Amino acid sequence: MRPPPAPQTCRGKSFGCQMTVYDGERMGELLAEQGLTAAEEGADADLVVLNTCHIREKAAEKVYSDIGRLRREDGSTPLIAVAGCVAQAEGEEIMARAPSVRMVVGPQAYHRLPEMLAEARTGKRVTDTDMPAQTKFDSLPARGRTRRAGPSAFLTVQEGCDKFCTYCVVPYTRGAETSRPFVDLVDEAQRLVAAGAKEVTLLGQNVNAWAGEDGRGRAIGLDGLIRALADMPDLQRIRYTTSHPNDMSEGLIAAHGEVAKLMPFLHLPVQSGSDRVLKAMNRSHTADGYLKLLDRVRAARPDIALSGDFIVGFPGETEAEFAETLQLIDAVGYAQAFSFKYSPRPGTPAATMAGQIAAEVMDERLQRLQAALNRDQLAFNAASVGKRCDVLVERTGRHAGQWLGKSPWLQSVHFHGDAAIGEVVAVELAEAGPNSLHARLLEPVAR
Ligand code: SAH
Ligand code: SF4
Ligand code: F3S
Repeated sequence: MRPPPAPQTCRGKSFGCQMTVYDGERMGELLAEQGLTAAEEGADADLVVLNTCHIREKAAEKVYSDIGRLRREDGSTPLIAVAGCVAQAEGEEIMARAPSVRMVVGPQAYHRLPEMLAEARTGKRVTDTDMPAQTKFDSLPARGRTRRAGPSAFLTVQEGCDKFCTYCVVPYTRGAETSRPFVDLVDEAQRLVAAGAKEVTLLGQNVNAWAGEDGRGRAIGLDGLIRALADMPDLQRIRYTTSHPNDMSEGLIAAHGEVAKLMPFLHLPVQSGSDRVLKAMNRSHTADGYLKLLDRVRAARPDIALSGDFIVGFPGETEAEFAETLQLIDAVGYAQAFSFKYSPRPGTPAATMAGQIAAEVMDERLQRLQAALNRDQLAFNAASVGKRCDVLVERTGRHAGQWLGKSPWLQSVHFHGDAAIGEVVAVELAEAGPNSLHARLLEPVAR
């Protein structure tokens, strides 16, 4: 029997953290090099890559409903590949539960997609969940060869996690902490800028654990990498995410006060305001240690916008311990934050801890937590009104003549006037809503 015709069109869908989005882009570039074109919006695709997240139960379950929805009216399906963290954690289960899936590929193995595709075309079902992260980066095509970059681009600099928080699957799905070499990162950043990027967000599960050697062989941390990238004339803004409190070095804090291109925004998850819960989570920092750290960051960069992650209903969390989280939120005044109900993940220590919290209790705590975070987000936006700042224009808005972009503090800003995607324009922030601000375009400034 002859193999079916080679797939011509593909579509990818990424769930989860920004690193999955980055991986999705790299897979797209890889497939483009194989001659596949992106299927048009709404059109059927020959190959579909579901790039998945395993962090919470709901995220993982979504994969199966998505696979089901790919079935066409005549009962056939496209070639389906499941990539990402669910593929890594549950590859065998996916193959057993979803016969229409032809390929399962882990987050450190997707450079092998072309060979896997060739095998899948012969009717085989193929799985690759190998782990060495650097092999992938060494084998992928160079960035920007097949596609333009958007104004704001992601660049994965670090992968994996050695922290083993007791609730979290990431150390198992992404593997051990590894840093990509400095020269590779400078090269990739240069290519992104040449392809149109004005802002680069450095990504890692613990991005501030990045360590390497600069061009002269000196040991540097993330701050050294940021300082080197800031020397690139056409790169205008640098961000990084997600950081861990324990890896927030003095050098990185200082960089916030000294490197103009490093944006005044810090996403620093804390998870809980209770020391007992933090210990049970194996977070290895206290609530007070976290607050003192933020004081030092604010001393270096007084206008810094802070963001965090929170989990409510960790096993054994009492009402009083939850109240400590609310107190911490009051003390910080976050510009924005993410909050989640605890989700027991198979294989993690917390999943079998005593004192699992009832769903209704978690719902109620999450509502109170989010009310506090929403209040602070609106207050932060309201306090920005009247400020003059730069906005990186990322796209057109819903209304005619409207532009959308980001302030230095990562707020969504919309305005009307003479601008173009990819420009950095000067505005005055005029009106604040909970999720965005309206701004007035100022006369073009020398830039
Ligand atoms: N490395 C980052 C976060 C990675 S996961 C860090 O440590 O900050 C992103 C967020 O998902 C976490 O910060 C945590 O708030 C949440 N999360 C992780 N595992 C979870 C679980 N089992 N249940 C609920 N939320 C979880
Ligand atoms: Fe997960 Fe903790 Fe590692 Fe973050 S630091 S990825 S929450 S184990
Ligand atoms: Fe999800 Fe994996 Fe990211 S579990 S949050 S996609 S590292």
